[in-house]
Amino acid sequence: MLPTIDWEDGEVVMIDQRKLPSREVYVRCRTGRDVAKAIRTMVIRGAPAIGVAAAMGVSLELRRSTATGTTQLATEFYRTCDLLGATRPTAVNLFWAIERMKGVFAAAMRAGQSTDELKATIDAEAARVHDEDVANCRALGRHGAAVLPDDGRVLTHCNAGALATGGFGSALGVVRAAVEAGKRVAVYAGETRPFLQGARLTAWELVRDGIETTVITDGMVGALMQSGRVDVVVVGADRIAANGDVANKIGTYTVAVLAREHEVPFYVAAPVSTIDLSTPDGSGIPIEERAAKEVTHLGGLQLTPDGAKIWNPAFDVTPARFVAGIITEHGICRPPFTESLQAVCSQEPGGTQQSAAAKASADPPKLVARSRSPSEGGEAKEV
Ligand code: MRU
Repeated sequence: MLPTIDWEDGEVVMIDQRKLPSREVYVRCRTGRDVAKAIRTMVIRGAPAIGVAAAMGVSLELRRSTATGTTQLATEFYRTCDLLGATRPTAVNLFWAIERMKGVFAAAMRAGQSTDELKATIDAEAARVHDEDVANCRALGRHGAAVLPDDGRVLTHCNAGALATGGFGSALGVVRAAVEAGKRVAVYAGETRPFLQGARLTAWELVRDGIETTVITDGMVGALMQSGRVDVVVVGADRIAANGDVANKIGTYTVAVLAREHEVPFYVAAPVSTIDLSTPDGSGIPIEERAAKEVTHLGGLQLTPDGAKIWNPAFDVTPARFVAGIITEHGICRPPFTESLQAVCSQEPGGTQQSAAAKASADPPKLVARSRSPSEGGEAKEV
């Protein structure tokens, strides 16, 4: 398993994703503030991974706390949550993880836990967030593998791999699970300007795994599909609105529109922690705009003339009508997503914002198992 993030000698250690693939170096975080900086500066990125990092960052800050009473510990806890919550706005997994940690902390306070007990409780919850994310990726990978043909060519965008999650990956989890199931899978990795997550990170992960990988620049997607080289698109997500609109890395929308034109099924693979039922549709998803320098420069080299204006939105929103299915750990959600997303969220054990919303539904839709068409490769649990 790729070493995305872990504990070592009481510190949170992350592989520095800005340096891959040319250098494999690790960043050590000693405080919650260090973890927040690592998220903001893209040492660690990818929606589920930054959720895991936030949970570990809160735990790290409490571990090193010298607070003598629970009130002081609570002040430090909530301050760290605020710090981590201000790092990146789009990926809902970050806020999901922080809310989960807050819920557990508040319950432990109400139960009268001591400072040491509170630290242990938060530590254990952070470990659960991490472990569950890996397990969820494996589970969604198994569901998603069914939509890949036995001999399939998959286009993905950005990096939704082990590096972007607690481990194993969401979109790449689907690829890995299909390979584990004995399918032959070849992947086209879209370069993903400007941070090059596809060219640098997805290609690095897949080549390490011995999976056939072809890197294309973002402008080649149309020609690739026109030439009949893609059977299915699988991408990750940063936030999925209640109606199935999907925010993901900038360029995803273009891929989805081209997939529709060329009748290539477009799938989104994401754990339930990426679903935000409190946001009705994509227009309510905050889109992060990042520094102009990401566009103007590449590896220190200036690409654009001084004076040119720059627009650098980090994400776009793909309308639900372009999405064939949303692959989660509980099964594949199909349109109408308003119903199927509520259904998967209601599968969650209590405590999440999403499941609370789903449970409030008077008549939650049922999960329905049915077989997929043979052309999509066999059985999948449908929602
Ligand atoms: O800016 P990034 O690299 O954090 O954006 C990441 C993506 O858009 C991923 O596709 C998404 O988080 C899914 S990761 C499983």
